[in-house]
Amino acid sequence: MTPTVVWDAGHKSEHEFDEFVTGRVLGGLPMQEELSLELLSPTLRLVNDSWHARLRRACAKWQADGARSQADGVRALVRRLKEARPSTYQHCIRVARYSRRTGRALGFDNVRLKQLASAAMMHDIGKLLVPESILSRPRRPTKFERFVLKLHPNLGALLASYYGLPAELRIRTQHHHERWDGRGYPHGLGGEDIPLMARVVQVADSFDAMVTRRAYNTPRAFDDAAAELRRESGRQFDPRVVEAFLDTFSESL
Ligand SMILES: [Fe+2]
Repeated sequence: MTPTVVWDAGHKSEHEFDEFVTGRVLGGLPMQEELSLELLSPTLRLVNDSWHARLRRACAKWQADGARSQADGVRALVRRLKEARPSTYQHCIRVARYSRRTGRALGFDNVRLKQLASAAMMHDIGKLLVPESILSRPRRPTKFERFVLKLHPNLGALLASYYGLPAELRIRTQHHHERWDGRGYPHGLGGEDIPLMARVVQVADSFDAMVTRRAYNTPRAFDDAAAELRRESGRQFDPRVVEAFLDTFSESL
């Protein structure tokens, strides 16, 4: 399956926006049977809420301000993340650091390393559109909260589109929760259909999530997390990426 670009920059009216969010952002998710309409309607309100509308106006204004570079677009979004979701921002910094080291081990040149770092910094940008109450809950997420959290790759691609960022970056942002075995989300891509940079970010992201303290669970030791990456190699993760990641970290593990 080909990765999907989710936003056509020409469509900016209220109506088209609503249609887009309901049709593409939500429609792009693998729906579970147990998710009733009743569960979905608060989500529809969530993605249409005033915060989102404000952000949309801010993005439109930013675009109207004129010719800025793509790097400015990434910086503007990351700055917003730093202000609004500081712990997610710190997570992205670490994921970018892990990703660069892995990319270097995979033989990426400097241009691709820069692209990879941008993709890693942007990977959770969609969490700007997930309520703070869900992100910083002091317990495991409920079924509905999990559903909202799983929107973030598509919401991130949507934000990247507003900011006029290149399609490749949107796609990398959108696919960091796919799985090598095709059982991930949002599109269920598998193997090399998942962009390589998204596969690198995925390993770095999972490692950081395992070794970092969350409100409701204790962090795992580095060697425990490394063992988990090995176990999931070929299932959740691309084996070549896991190998490169672990080689890079072998001295500190
Ligand atoms: Fe994520």
